[in-house]
Amino acid sequence: MMATGEPRAKKIKLEEKKIGQNALFGMGNPLLDICAVVDKDFLDKYALKPNDQILAEDKHKAMFEEVVKKFKVEYHAGGATQNSMKVAQWMIQKPPKVATFFGCIGKDRFGEILKEKAKEAHVDARYYEQSVEPTGTCAACITGDNRSLVANLAAANCYKKEKHLDLEENWKFVEKAKVFYIAGFFLTVSMESILKVAKHASENNKIFGMNLSAPFICKDFKDSLLKVMPYVDVLFGNETEAATFAREQGFETEDIEEIAKKTQSLPKVNKKRQRIVVFTQGKEGTVMTKGDKVETFPVLQIEESKIVDTNGAGDAFVGGFLSELVQDSPLEECIRAGHYAANVIIRHVGCTIAEKPDFQLLCLSFKISQAHIMMEPCKHFT
Ligand SMILES: Nc1ncnc2c1ncn2[C@@H]1O[C@H](COP(=O)(O)OP(=O)(O)OP(=O)(O)O)[C@@H](O)[C@H]1O
Ligand SMILES: *[C@@H]1O[C@H](CO)[C@@H](O)[C@H](O)[C@H]1NC(C)=O
Ligand SMILES: *[C@@H]1O[C@H](CO)[C@@H](O)[C@H](O)[C@H]1NC(C)=O
Ligand SMILES: *[C@@H]1O[C@H](CO)[C@@H](O)[C@H](O)[C@H]1NC(C)=O
Repeated sequence: MMATGEPRAKKIKLEEKKIGQNALFGMGNPLLDICAVVDKDFLDKYALKPNDQILAEDKHKAMFEEVVKKFKVEYHAGGATQNSMKVAQWMIQKPPKVATFFGCIGKDRFGEILKEKAKEAHVDARYYEQSVEPTGTCAACITGDNRSLVANLAAANCYKKEKHLDLEENWKFVEKAKVFYIAGFFLTVSMESILKVAKHASENNKIFGMNLSAPFICKDFKDSLLKVMPYVDVLFGNETEAATFAREQGFETEDIEEIAKKTQSLPKVNKKRQRIVVFTQGKEGTVMTKGDKVETFPVLQIEESKIVDTNGAGDAFVGGFLSELVQDSPLEECIRAGHYAANVIIRHVGCTIAEKPDFQLLCLSFKISQAHIMMEPCKHFT
């Protein structure tokens, strides 16, 4: 009995895992990542430090066109939420377009490239295209082992609910989705859009996920964050963000498990789902609430020497987690998938520019597309 029973059970499980297109919905700031190996003169011209992460100021505006003219560049679809969508889609593999992504871009060449790149990642990107601001960009200027990131949100800041989300042809993708994810960064762009999606999720007992995203979001956008919180079913954050959030909320504890519990018990609209709080802590275990309890789950161990770059590990973790959540997997599986995806991202040999094969660019999006070619995530994962 056992011998015949077991494979059948497995088969049923596989069939259950079949997942619909557009089941996962993300909305955020689409950025075209532009990776290039530059020289010191270029860094100096724009007063860039070799190792840094900044927002573009007026003096940097000309830099994006110049880097493309002067150097050989690699383009990738980027931005935190879009990255998480790409990772989720990469983990799921088939069918394509399980992940939908909304955001705002410009009607320009960079916008066209972004559309192409999202397509290559099999993400169903449906951008609001406007002609006032240019497509958002993030330049990764590489010198040696150093990388200077300069982000210019531009069009990403211009997302408008009435111009895009409200339109029937777009809203139908919200209706189609089962799991939603919006990083906290988007609170600075379109609060109305977030609330509309969050309320839809709550009213239809679907899952709405959010990310604390950065200490400044927990501090300067505290009120917006608290307005959305009652709709949040899954809240992500790293330890630094959790600590800032706790301080701002007056939780009076620095213990991360206690912070998770207190965050979990903040007011909630949809009482059919208890909130899940997930805090990553780099190489330390990931804290997750389960019901009224809280547990810490160890990450995949990795030798220090194998870590190329931990940047983007958080986005990858979220993508992995969502890839299982959207398949109704148990939370332990979601965490496991998150750790797996983060582990691939931090150890993967970064972008290698064709002419310089031993040159490692440390660029998240490229790592993902590389990994796409090099390994079958599901085989390794399960
Ligand atoms: N040193 C490390 N060793 C093992 N795993 C790591 C390490 N750093 C990161 N990770 C993996 O990445 C996940 C997320 O890491 P972390 O908490 O540092 O995110 P983060 O600070 O938001 O990263 P980033 O902001 O750079 O994207 C961890 O849960 C873990 O799985
Ligand atoms: C990388 O940056 C460090 C300082 O941040 C500097 O000492 C080092 O020379 C840089 N390497 C290259 C190859 O530019
Ligand atoms: C957590 O993320 C923030 C950015 O939001 C980053 O500055 C910080 O270094 C991260 N913390 C850790 C411990 O990795
Ligand atoms: C989102 O959450 C992850 C995981 O908890 C965290 O590491 C990361 O810093 C957050 N990132 C963004 C960009 O929202």
